[in-house]
Amino acid sequence: ARRIWLTRHGESIYNQKALIGGDSSLSPNGAAYAEVLPEVILSRLPKSADGTPVPVSVWTSTLQRTIQTAAALPFAKLRWKALDEIDAGICDGMTYAQIAEKHPAEYEARKKDKLRYRYPRGESYLDMIARLEPVISEMEREGESIVIVGHQAVLRVIFGYLMAQPQAAIPSIHIPLHTVIELTPRPDGTMGVEYIPVP
Ligand code: G3H
Repeated sequence: ARRIWLTRHGESIYNQKALIGGDSSLSPNGAAYAEVLPEVILSRLPKSADGTPVPVSVWTSTLQRTIQTAAALPFAKLRWKALDEIDAGICDGMTYAQIAEKHPAEYEARKKDKLRYRYPRGESYLDMIARLEPVISEMEREGESIVIVGHQAVLRVIFGYLMAQPQAAIPSIHIPLHTVIELTPRPDGTMGVEYIPVP
């Protein structure tokens, strides 16, 4: 049977500094995650009826931190611009504390309605839901198993969709770092979920 594995990129330099957005590289911790990721996926690969491993493709965004996280995976790779992290517009490259200080009205507006709030010159979660539609329909058409190496906001949308979560819940779905989320379609159309923490 097919599997969908979702993972955030390994910890990045920006993650270490609590900065949002950007296009930074992996930290040493993140690079260590990228190194063990192939073992984790290979150990979970289902076998097809004749015993051969099922084909797998790897989807990343166009940002360095997902490309670097996927680099050692021994499968065909596809880069999607649509998988790039939410565009924080004028807040890109800031910490949440800096946003609260420099753009207090924006900070409050986002806290009030995170689903609909659109960063000035950036995106909202609703924008992300629209932008990810082609990725999700390709994912549904695709019969192969897929590893999606993504970003927090992007994976909230994809996970929320696959788990039939209400839209309002999407911006607060917990997508932990350094954890592979394994989704297995069940015959009734729902998904089995397993969280595989990677030490
Ligand atoms: O940098 C973007 C974050 O991954 C998205 O998190 O929507 O909770 O601010 P947030």
